[in-house]
Amino acid sequence: MVKKIAIFISGRGSNMESLLKKSLSDNLPVQFIVVSDNPKANGLKIAENIGVKTIVLENCSDGWKLTDENSEKIEQIIKEHNISLVLLAGFMRIIPKQLIEKFPSTFVNIHPSLLPSFKGKNAQRDAFEYGVKISGCTVHFVDSGVDTGPIIMQKGVDISSCINIEEAKNEILKAEHELYYEALKLLLSSKYTIIGRRVIFGF
Ligand code: GAR
Repeated sequence: MVKKIAIFISGRGSNMESLLKKSLSDNLPVQFIVVSDNPKANGLKIAENIGVKTIVLENCSDGWKLTDENSEKIEQIIKEHNISLVLLAGFMRIIPKQLIEKFPSTFVNIHPSLLPSFKGKNAQRDAFEYGVKISGCTVHFVDSGVDTGPIIMQKGVDISSCINIEEAKNEILKAEHELYYEALKLLLSSKYTIIGRRVIFGF
């Protein structure tokens, strides 16, 4: 059966593009919509060019919070489109707790570090400046914290020879594109259970 998946973006949309193109090329039994809190997000044009329906959340205020109106809109989108997974891909808003509770194990995020290290919006910079040799990326379920939910998959990236932050970001981004798609396939193909913080696949 075809699963309906929403990808939420705020800007560039390279993770979104990679997910859309890889899924199309592999004929995954999925149908996507793309949702953005930013009408100027570059990713919207990319999605439209690929032929994917896009929805813009209207009147988003500045900052991390979603308005109650937008939260209701997201709930409506999930129900109306029968969405089984929401993949946050550079969506720079916090999903309200009540939405996460209404749709358990539905919201998934990608973060550009090996969590729980380097949470927050400057993850690659923080890792590079800390001097870690191995950083990476994490796909995790969203909980009510920021970058704290149960981990689905991680991929390490050796940034020891990167000469600046941009290079480290690029190396990590390449890994993100691979990891997010692997995680999507895993979520679609395998049963899982969450025990405490641990996501266990295979039953
Ligand atoms: C990605 O690096 C993603 O991991 C990060 O924003 C970037 C979006 O790029 N997300 C976060 O930092 C969330 N905490 P993209 O729009 O090209 O996919």
